[in-house]
Amino acid sequence: MKVMIFTSSPNTDGLTAACGNSAKMGAEEAGAQVVLVNLNRQKIGSCHACGNGWGTCRNEHECQVQDDFQALHGSMADMDAFVLITPVYWGEMSESAKAFTDRLRRCEALKKEKTFIEGKPVIAVAAAGGSGNGLTTCLTSMERLFTHVKAEKFDLIGLTQKNRVYKLAALQEAVQEMVALSKRKDK
Ligand SMILES: Cc1cc2nc3c(=O)[nH]c(=O)nc-3n(C[C@H](O)[C@H](O)[C@H](O)COP(=O)(O)O)c2cc1C
Repeated sequence: MKVMIFTSSPNTDGLTAACGNSAKMGAEEAGAQVVLVNLNRQKIGSCHACGNGWGTCRNEHECQVQDDFQALHGSMADMDAFVLITPVYWGEMSESAKAFTDRLRRCEALKKEKTFIEGKPVIAVAAAGGSGNGLTTCLTSMERLFTHVKAEKFDLIGLTQKNRVYKLAALQEAVQEMVALSKRKDK
């Protein structure tokens, strides 16, 4: 079983990175192989809304903006589950998470077959600051994304600087449980 964990913060020692470590530990404890991707280290630009608003994403399910998106998108086919972790910026996902997921949604949402995410379990994680303002709007947009690509929403987890201790432990347990349940289903 392979789990891809996306983080999307420039900080390597912040709350987003701590969430990545918790998710990784949970997945490995349940015996999964982990692929960690820091979206801030990828060269992935924004959607160009080609043509009349739809480009090759609509029918060919591929993005015509050539950068690191293609290889990363392709590698998702081989994964069994996903964890998407973003810092909360202005009540939204970070720019690197938004750029990647906007293009991912366009390529995956209208696929009739060979989807890379449909039916696979996902956990959405939003890591906010002290106020936690915009935590729920961020999780709402992540929930909408996973609805569009027909993922199986296993959990939506919001953290702030104040609740990080018990929420990091909860995230680790959630990923462990997601992997364990998927393994039982496969039998
Ligand atoms: C541009 C920007 C916008 C932010 N907007 C919010 C916000 O709307 N609500 C909030 O609670 N924290 C906000 N924060 C704080 C971050 O969500 C918080 O510091 C988070 O832990 C950052 O993740 P990191 O520790 O991985 O860098 C913002 C931070 C930045 C840099």
